[in-house]
Amino acid sequence: MGRADQIPEPGDFFTISLFGEPLLATREKSGQINVMSAVCRHRGAIVTEEAKGNCSTFRCVYHHWTYGLDGALLGCPAMMEKTEDFNKAEKWLGAASGGALARFHLHEFRQSLMGGLVGVAPRGVV
Ligand code: FES
Repeated sequence: MGRADQIPEPGDFFTISLFGEPLLATREKSGQINVMSAVCRHRGAIVTEEAKGNCSTFRCVYHHWTYGLDGALLGCPAMMEKTEDFNKAEKWLGAASGGALARFHLHEFRQSLMGGLVGVAPRGVV
């Protein structure tokens, strides 16, 4: 889908459309490269319209759901403010612990690095 040297620094990202899916490739602080869907898990808006850039989070323009460089949902301010029984404790459990919001992680794609190229396949495809 692209080259690793397109995203050399932490926070670098680029987007591309493959398999009919808008994809987002990011580099985390650890150097890890992630490939995920750029489609917001709330109502399907695209989380960034930029072809490339550098950022620490992706904030959907519609209802401000915010995702980390690994695709984890970090915040959903409207839900937190307007939903009476929204459990803030669960919010911070995040993807790593399988918390309630982990299911709203941007869809991940399996990526591989070969000769500096970033390859990608949908999860579940060998
Ligand atoms: S569509 Fe993204 S936050 Fe609502």
